Amino acid sequence: MQQSTSTSKTKTIWVTGASSGIGRALAEKLALQGHRVYISGRTSQTLDDIVQQFDSTYGSKATINSGSQLIALPCDVTDDAAMVNVLQQAGVQDLDTIILSAGTCEYIDLPNLDINMIRRVNETNYFGVVNACIAALPMLEITAVAAKNASRERPHIIGIGSMSSYLGFPRAEAYGSSKAAMSYFLESLRSDLGDRMDVTVVYPGFVKTPMTDRNDFPMPFLVEVDDAADIILRKAVRRPLTIAFPARLNLLLKSMTLLPRLWYSGISKRLRRSGAGS
Ligand SMILES: NC(=O)c1ccc[n+]([C@@H]2O[C@H](COP(=O)([O-])OP(=O)(O)OC[C@H]3O[C@@H](n4cnc5c(N)ncnc54)[C@H](OP(=O)(O)O)[C@@H]3O)[C@@H](O)[C@H]2O)c1
Repeated sequence: MQQSTSTSKTKTIWVTGASSGIGRALAEKLALQGHRVYISGRTSQTLDDIVQQFDSTYGSKATINSGSQLIALPCDVTDDAAMVNVLQQAGVQDLDTIILSAGTCEYIDLPNLDINMIRRVNETNYFGVVNACIAALPMLEITAVAAKNASRERPHIIGIGSMSSYLGFPRAEAYGSSKAAMSYFLESLRSDLGDRMDVTVVYPGFVKTPMTDRNDFPMPFLVEVDDAADIILRKAVRRPLTIAFPARLNLLLKSMTLLPRLWYSGISKRLRRSGAGS
């Protein structure tokens, strides 16, 4: 996924939320491109099974230095204390790219405005991203120094946000706010990092994964997970500030952000019965 300006084509990449869905698809595709990919999720066994399945499917294509291209790195992104040293403890010395895909989705059903649920969703989707950045920044900085003397490409932080943060969707008080917070955090981080690192925030519409398999409302322009990963990887090469797909849903929702808030309020009341976007 990196541009050819780099002198070393093999990158070290960390993908959180790589035990399923978008994160897993991205991690496997990157490993197949020859990169060394650390994959995270909360359950060791699930990650080990993914590594084993990947190696047995792709055989020698999937090995680097007689080990797998995929390396299991179990962690819970909400565990502040454990996250600080998670990469050091795994022996990671430097990183080229991090992909922050760990996430969860729960919907509000009024009148139950559940503070515990709102905290839980924000712990994973927002503070989980913050924790992963705290863990990874020292390693990304090492790469940034090497990039200054052109021996490496600049490090890249990619966060998987959501179009739900564009507008206040019904039932998305927890999920949408967590995604708005993480996008803002990453945008702010980009400003502070200056030209040392690139930061891309990805805004998917609906992607078919275990997360959306639970949804009981219509999901317009649903994208297959494999296609979603291909789109992200293809676009990420140019290191844009944002990646949003599918284009038609993005256009529709972006146009709605331009409407006077009063008009949107009328539309959103009609959306309420059909549920919120993930
Ligand atoms: N699917 C969509 O339509 C859609 C749309 C917009 C944005 N997104 C975003 O895309 C990202 C990936 O979602 P997905 O659809 O691929 O969902 P998914 O298949 O449910 O994957 C979620 C991943 O997050 C990991 N995870 C959850 N809580 C975690 C925690 N506390 N610590 C570490 N890992 C944790 C899960 O691993 P374990 O459970 O094994 O820990 C899993 O690997 C999420 O951030 C989601 O909000 C998805």
